[in-house]
Amino acid sequence: MFTLSLLAALAATPLLVAAVPSVEPRQAQKVTVDFGKKYQTIDGFGFSGAFQRANLIVNLKEPKQTELLNLLFNTTSGAGFSIVRNGIGSSQDSSKDYMNTILPKCPSSPTGTPEYKWDGKDSGQIWLSQQAVRYGVKTFYGNAWSAPGCMKTNGVDVNGGQLCGVSGASCSKGDWKQAYANYLIKWAQLYGENGIKITHLGFLNEPDYSTSYASMQSSGTQAADFIKVLRPTLDKANMTDVGINCCEATGWSVASGHASQIASAGAESMLYAITSHEYSSRISGTMKTTRRVWQTEYSDLNGGWSTAWYSNGGSGDGFTWANTVFNGVVNSNLSAYIFWEGVQDRATNNNNNEKLILVDGQTYTVSKRLWAFAQFRIVRPGALRVGASGGSNLKSSAFVNADGSLAVVIINSGTGTQRVSIGLTGSTLTNPTVQAWYTDNTHDMTAVDVTVAADGTATASVTGRGMISFLFVPAAPVPPVESPVPTPV
Ligand SMILES: *[C@@H]1O[C@H](CO)[C@@H](O)[C@H](O)[C@H]1NC(C)=O
Ligand SMILES: *[C@@H]1O[C@H](CO)[C@@H](O)[C@H](O)[C@H]1NC(C)=O
Ligand SMILES: *[C@@H]1O[C@H](CO)[C@@H](O)[C@H](O)[C@H]1NC(C)=O
Repeated sequence: MFTLSLLAALAATPLLVAAVPSVEPRQAQKVTVDFGKKYQTIDGFGFSGAFQRANLIVNLKEPKQTELLNLLFNTTSGAGFSIVRNGIGSSQDSSKDYMNTILPKCPSSPTGTPEYKWDGKDSGQIWLSQQAVRYGVKTFYGNAWSAPGCMKTNGVDVNGGQLCGVSGASCSKGDWKQAYANYLIKWAQLYGENGIKITHLGFLNEPDYSTSYASMQSSGTQAADFIKVLRPTLDKANMTDVGINCCEATGWSVASGHASQIASAGAESMLYAITSHEYSSRISGTMKTTRRVWQTEYSDLNGGWSTAWYSNGGSGDGFTWANTVFNGVVNSNLSAYIFWEGVQDRATNNNNNEKLILVDGQTYTVSKRLWAFAQFRIVRPGALRVGASGGSNLKSSAFVNADGSLAVVIINSGTGTQRVSIGLTGSTLTNPTVQAWYTDNTHDMTAVDVTVAADGTATASVTGRGMISFLFVPAAPVPPVESPVPTPV
């Protein structure tokens, strides 16, 4: 299915081929893709519309609304995002950044019958998710910032507190672990009834941080107590294929602690992915876990709104983000990289860089951070990362998609235009069609000429501090790629 739709899309796309940048060094730098070196499987790239930001798109008039959706989800003209992270609200209302809960009032005991209240909108996220489905998105991550306050030690969904019933959090009102599991499943089922299949569930957000919006504290050990209830409850509800993600730590070092505590508590095998943010400590090295690892929320909270690709390496620059995502996937074995907000207004947080697109009433402005992600859009969910190396000042990565196509994503760290040649080893692709696109200060995933030599080597040019992505589509179908053999640590 994917093969056909991808090829149809490629065939339908007019080839807007840009002129090859004029100043070129004589010698092309050689990058070698090694099919014999197999690493992690990629689940995708994404963003969130939580905190009611989805409503900014809901409220846009046409044609802007469709333009913006294309920028986010279109796999041939936009970023081609493949994961949507939805917030599971725990608040009494949707004022400020709050997201309303489907259980504003708990029954008097944990075993009482809950009265769920569904508004059909879920802070704009139902609409956004339905649009994503139309574009072919298949991964929907539901993530609660907190349990409803009535299930917690502090009685409110804000300012930390813990889930009643996990170790070290006993409450006179009883053990609410099972009730919380039922609640999360109810939320996922409501999405299902609206045509959105929730594929992953998370029940914590930054559990090492207590704040004035929805927040709930948890250690990895306490998280394991809940995972041991949630997993069998999902299975009993016939949701065996819904993965549990944990624990959305503020940073990599806390997340690594969660991973080891969950493993010690014997709950690692019940998890799909260990999830981390990158605020309190950046991602570096690989995490000690047998599970997949996702970066699920990060953004530049300090920079003033910038649409630049490269401005002296600023923290909001597209080029900086290209390197951030690249490092996570290539050096830290991430299977997913999810930005924080897809869209935000001008008023929030002094118009900083925590969004990819600024929506200002009925107009919008796109940052180059979006185009850094777009360079990865040819890496589709299910792709297997393989070896890629060679060339000075080049950072190379390669991925074999489930349909047999090969995506090669390269950052040129040098300041000059560079010709890049991609050679293949360890396997071949039969008579591939090769396309390439690049992004720099003045281009956004713009198609560029590719020459393919008789030996199959593909060559194209990328400007200084630019990024280039090559897609090789073989003429003949190739056998599916084997699952990766875990590398011993
Ligand atoms: C994606 O963009 C292309 C090019 O603009 C357009 O032809 C196509 O219809 C878009 N896809 C969807 C699903 O809207
Ligand atoms: C789960 O699926 C089985 C077999 O299709 C069915 O008998 C059962 O009622 C389902 N249970 C739930 C909770 O949907
Ligand atoms: C990379 O992640 C996979 C799970 O996606 C795991 O099996 C493998 O051991 C990890 N490799 C390293 C080097 O951490």
